[in-house]
Amino acid sequence: MTQLLTVCLTQGQIDFHRRQGYLVLPPLTTPDELAWLREIYDRLFSARTGREEGNQFDLGGTDEEGRQALLPQILSVAKYAPQIKETLLMANARSVVRQLLGPDALCEDGHAIYKPPRIGAQTPWHQDAAYWSPDYDHYSLSLWIPLQEATLENGCMHFVPGSHRDRNILPHRSINNDPRIHGLELVPEAMEHVRDSVACPLPPGGATIHGGYTLHYAGANRSDIPRRALILIGSIPATRRATPRSLPWQAEKRTARMERVKVKN
Ligand code: NI
Repeated sequence: MTQLLTVCLTQGQIDFHRRQGYLVLPPLTTPDELAWLREIYDRLFSARTGREEGNQFDLGGTDEEGRQALLPQILSVAKYAPQIKETLLMANARSVVRQLLGPDALCEDGHAIYKPPRIGAQTPWHQDAAYWSPDYDHYSLSLWIPLQEATLENGCMHFVPGSHRDRNILPHRSINNDPRIHGLELVPEAMEHVRDSVACPLPPGGATIHGGYTLHYAGANRSDIPRRALILIGSIPATRRATPRSLPWQAEKRTARMERVKVKN
């Protein structure tokens, strides 16, 4: 497998990311590797890999057994498909993450969010840090990589430029204000922060990068093809906060996923 393509960010790209809180990159791997990754990806979802452990669930619904998931997600995807770690895609993701977070940054795993054709639900506006431990300040980046084209029609990413700047976490709630749903969304009163957003269509294997405080959204999949996104996470260690944040929406969660994990343990 060719491992020659190395992505090196320009100073202009690094500055853009710092100022705007996101960045768009051209393909990080070859069409052949993408085709191979699509097969692995589809196998993980069709085998319901990780479901018993609470690592596969419906991010956008109540996730009962037997109900079609509208926004299925797999966490810790490299645990189930370790060959992902050896890809050119991952090598380039590491290179990019180190240029943005420093030479000690790691990028070894990620998650997968699948939007089925026609019925794949939107991912409402949110900040990733709303999901993370309130006891820490986090320094993590997400590289969002579609394994096919990502378009306005099938659910490409959208960002609010500059929304990351004060590292503030806006008020969130469970999607539809239903604590049985894993996914989060901004509360309606905070939607005033969503303005001048930018849509980022991508070619297959292209990437967007964003940090935990950048407001983002992905549309529903209204197309006839599956929208497969692989999200690789780069980070340096989080630091403990003197005062924990207040993120009350986390304590209210009552998901089927949590029940499955409890029964298993
Ligand atoms: Ni997100």
